[in-house]
Amino acid sequence: MNTKDIHLIYDAQYGIEYNNRFHDYDEWIIRTDAHTKIIENLHANVVKDTPVRWLDVACGTGYLLSRFPDSERVGLDLSPGMIVQARKQNPTVTIIEGNYLNTNAFEKGSFDVISETGWGHTYVDSFEQWDVMVKNFHGWLNENGSCFITLATLNNVYRWAGKKAPKLPYFVGQDFGGGQIRISGFEWTWKEGGGYFHRMRVPNPKEFKELFDRYFDEVHLVQYPPDFLGIIGFKQKQDPAVIEQIIADMKKLNKETTEAKPESVDKSLSFRKFLSKVKYFVKYKVSQW
Ligand SMILES: C[S@@+](CC[C@H](N)C(=O)[O-])C[C@H]1O[C@@H](n2cnc3c(N)ncnc32)[C@H](O)[C@@H]1O
Repeated sequence: MNTKDIHLIYDAQYGIEYNNRFHDYDEWIIRTDAHTKIIENLHANVVKDTPVRWLDVACGTGYLLSRFPDSERVGLDLSPGMIVQARKQNPTVTIIEGNYLNTNAFEKGSFDVISETGWGHTYVDSFEQWDVMVKNFHGWLNENGSCFITLATLNNVYRWAGKKAPKLPYFVGQDFGGGQIRISGFEWTWKEGGGYFHRMRVPNPKEFKELFDRYFDEVHLVQYPPDFLGIIGFKQKQDPAVIEQIIADMKKLNKETTEAKPESVDKSLSFRKFLSKVKYFVKYKVSQW
């Protein structure tokens, strides 16, 4: 998706409404807590006397940035409308208007930790652009840096429509003309209530794992509540305790999530989705009459 389209979707009004539409929605809160915990772990893994240098890519309204006041934070986003809100929420943080595909956006080795949550990676024009993105993240990290991306999956897309996703295979078969067939990802369109079209590209998680494996010495796909998937890459091999701690934290959050909610998570989610829609409608639509 080109810069002009991102500016059209994520305009000033979208920036104002964004946190209410998404971050205040319960499923998103569970997810943001998981993101925070993973990033907390990655920060804790950085051993140095100065504050952790952390870049949040496609930082949007800076919701996550505001949760880490002690680190040296930098936000990057393509949308001026979102950046206005990010700066409001994080007046002391450096927020840069720029594109994660621009290799020169940062010097090599600038950061200890890089994150990209909230599916900024789905706004690419081709699957090849993920190669550029991951290569950039790798280059912007210092020699012991780590990177965390929340992956968009077929499951998430279907579940938000209240449906069960069909299984998306990765490795389909061998020996087609002496080669292999793999399903790299898929494309979907989201027509939002406001009429915007998002044409989104979603990787097959295994394809992303392969892509990360090209650059990072240690790579993990991590499941977190309620049913999300993230990928974590370390530039150097780590003590196994590092990833074990993250997985244990995710399990704990998951347990807390299932214990706190009744068994029918889907039912309660759709009810909460309904409530958040009512809240959004009352706050923005009714107030415009
Ligand atoms: C759904 S929002 C996620 C915001 C935030 N990370 C969150 O979780 O709330 C996606 C963001 O990706 C940004 N974005 C899309 N493509 C980008 C690119 N190539 N470089 C930088 N930011 C981009 C958009 O401007 C938008 O703010």
